[in-house]
Amino acid sequence: MKAIVHDRYGSPDVLELQEVEKPNVTDDGVLVRVRAASVNPADWYGMTGLPYVGRALMGLFKPKQRVLGVDFAGTVEAVGEDITEFRPGDDVFGGRSGSFAEYVCVRNAVVLKPANVTFEQAAAVPIAALTALQGLRDKGQVQPGHKVLINGASGGVGTFAVQIAKALGAEVTGVCSTRNVDLVRSIGADHVVDYTREDFTRNDRRYDLMLDVAGSRSWSECKRVLNPQATLVIVGAPKGNRLIGPLSHIVKVRLAALRSSQRVVFFIAKVNKADMEVLQELLEAGKVTPVVDRRY
Ligand SMILES: NC(=O)c1ccc[n+]([C@@H]2O[C@H](COP(=O)([O-])OP(=O)(O)OC[C@H]3O[C@@H](n4cnc5c(N)ncnc54)[C@H](OP(=O)(O)O)[C@@H]3O)[C@@H](O)[C@H]2O)c1
Repeated sequence: MKAIVHDRYGSPDVLELQEVEKPNVTDDGVLVRVRAASVNPADWYGMTGLPYVGRALMGLFKPKQRVLGVDFAGTVEAVGEDITEFRPGDDVFGGRSGSFAEYVCVRNAVVLKPANVTFEQAAAVPIAALTALQGLRDKGQVQPGHKVLINGASGGVGTFAVQIAKALGAEVTGVCSTRNVDLVRSIGADHVVDYTREDFTRNDRRYDLMLDVAGSRSWSECKRVLNPQATLVIVGAPKGNRLIGPLSHIVKVRLAALRSSQRVVFFIAKVNKADMEVLQELLEAGKVTPVVDRRY
């Protein structure tokens, strides 16, 4: 099969279209012909091998994972002996490393694709929407009526976070740049702040939960807009330096917040079937609609 592979770290020039071995279907696996795969910041980190500290996992001198990509949507081609849930021909979507390829064999995190979303839309869901769901529901413990601020509401994670927070009953404020204000409003945000024109840390609104996708603000700035018992969930951070990358922002905020009444949480999203099923239901019910920026 064909796949996009890389054998060294670097800019997009290191990526090559090559012939690689097609995965065998395992007894507990589902072989999927990939119809669409989406790109996440994690793929950029995997491609560049940055920050250097991450190479302990990614491979010290060259990438352990030749094929990047995690999110996919496609059609089941074959199923293992133990699989009763899927049949060849089913349209599915899920998360499995190596999705920038014609086929993936996936064991757990795969569910049927709702008919009301396209392959491209479904492929945009897994990592970004799982991050939004787990950040809001598990780490942020969002409750109906909570005032939620999403800093970075117009990107992959943010567009899901706005819609999931609304589905969970929150009052949502989204922060984004001018060109995305209408988009963020159109997906259901109650209030939208254009960060190029207004500093949300300088107004009177207070929040029970801040989901920080952009990582653009210091702890003292975030604290100003948080209620005393609020939670700050750090999802993303600027790329930072080549050695420790986004970790520097996360460590700084956590240390600065040590003596505060507010909780600060950082987490890495987990790709799992139970949460994929929650997202499948939200898509099917029309409560969440993936936003696709560009197709390649
Ligand atoms: N913890 C985890 O498990 C996990 C999982 C997935 C992603 N992430 C991280 O989350 C971050 C975002 O991922 P993504 O896929 O959503 O990326 P993305 O699609 O590039 O979105 C970035 C968002 O940040 C906004 N933004 C940029 N500068 C900003 C600023 N100064 N103030 C406020 N918002 C600003 C952008 O808004 P405009 O475009 O309107 O400027 C956009 O909404 C990345 O750092 C990624 O590594 C973490």
